[in-house]
Amino acid sequence: MEDKMGSECEGPEMSLVCLTDFQAHAREQLSKSTRDFIEGGADDSITRDDNIAAFKRIRLRPRYLRDVSEVDTRTTIQGEEISAPICIAPTGFHCLVWPDGEMSTARAAQAAGICYITSTFASCSLEDIVIAAPEGLRWFQLYVHPVLQLNKQLIQRVESLGFKALVITLDTPVCGNRRHDIRNQLRRNLTLTDLQSPKKGNAIPYFQMTPISTSHCWNDLSWFQSITRLPIILKGILTKEDAELAVKHNVQGIIVSNHGGRQLDEVLASIDALTEVVAAVKGKIEVYLDGGVRTGNDVLKALALGAKCIFLGRPILWGLACKGEHGVKEVLNILTNEFHTSMALTGCRSVAEINRNLVQFSRL
Ligand code: FNR
Repeated sequence: MEDKMGSECEGPEMSLVCLTDFQAHAREQLSKSTRDFIEGGADDSITRDDNIAAFKRIRLRPRYLRDVSEVDTRTTIQGEEISAPICIAPTGFHCLVWPDGEMSTARAAQAAGICYITSTFASCSLEDIVIAAPEGLRWFQLYVHPVLQLNKQLIQRVESLGFKALVITLDTPVCGNRRHDIRNQLRRNLTLTDLQSPKKGNAIPYFQMTPISTSHCWNDLSWFQSITRLPIILKGILTKEDAELAVKHNVQGIIVSNHGGRQLDEVLASIDALTEVVAAVKGKIEVYLDGGVRTGNDVLKALALGAKCIFLGRPILWGLACKGEHGVKEVLNILTNEFHTSMALTGCRSVAEINRNLVQFSRL
């Protein structure tokens, strides 16, 4: 872990000491429409805000006198070691916020030793992302295309590029109702102006703007399993019913997620949905979480409630908008340092020692 007291934090950058500092600073760097695109939730943004508030309704139950002179944040996902249970969720269009876009994100993830889920809507080509960070652990997020054969081509490309898992997003059969994006006419502006990747021809507007299947269903999963050897992770599960179906269909993992509150509004906060999903899978597959993770304590709470790791959406874009690759590295490093502190202060020397007894739902 990098020591944040070291020389690299000088001048005005000293003030960026937590993820919400990056949020505030990023707001100043971005155009209104890009800011709204990143921050926006669906409809009244009830779930977007509850993702954060729900973490704050949980209280910690620390244990002391446990020799925390050495705290190890490492863990594994799908058998691969990561330096901390803090990884990068798929978000589209990184070139909107930084010229090198996903290439910078990939480099930062590789340096941090964590997993980066690359979005179907990446604004750099998958080949360039891999060249930028050839040693990084990468999963690929798929929005299922209505033409099955196009999915097959893409998945084969992803597999040959060394991506280690296929993450299928379930919660987007249609796009959520994001009022700011409608007011800003984002779709039109995205294609016409903002998506100017640094290298001409690098952006892939074809897949970025192509439709997402409205009709795929549980029975289609076996087709995906027949065309790839990659583990399949389902992103967007919020109920025990769907968690049980995921196990029944032999997928390898679940990301409990509500898309950062950008799809169906007024669903449960991710951390509130986690408990029932974890109970339903009965340890048969790994369960991860994204949505509203902003502090080391949040990471600890998610793990205590059964998540194997968490994924960050907006905070990565804040880091990227502030300082590109270096900003993403700082966001990851700050959160890992906070998580290290949270572990030490609750008496956990390893991730394996984090358990359900560390948390209590507050009545506040
Ligand atoms: C997203 N998310 C998302 N999810 C996905 O499966 N594919 C995608 O392309 C995108 N794109 C995307 C863009 C932006 C700007 C945001 C904010 C989010 C959802 C993302 O993976 C994740 O579920 C949430 O962002 C997690 O919540 P937090 O960390 O942003 O609170």
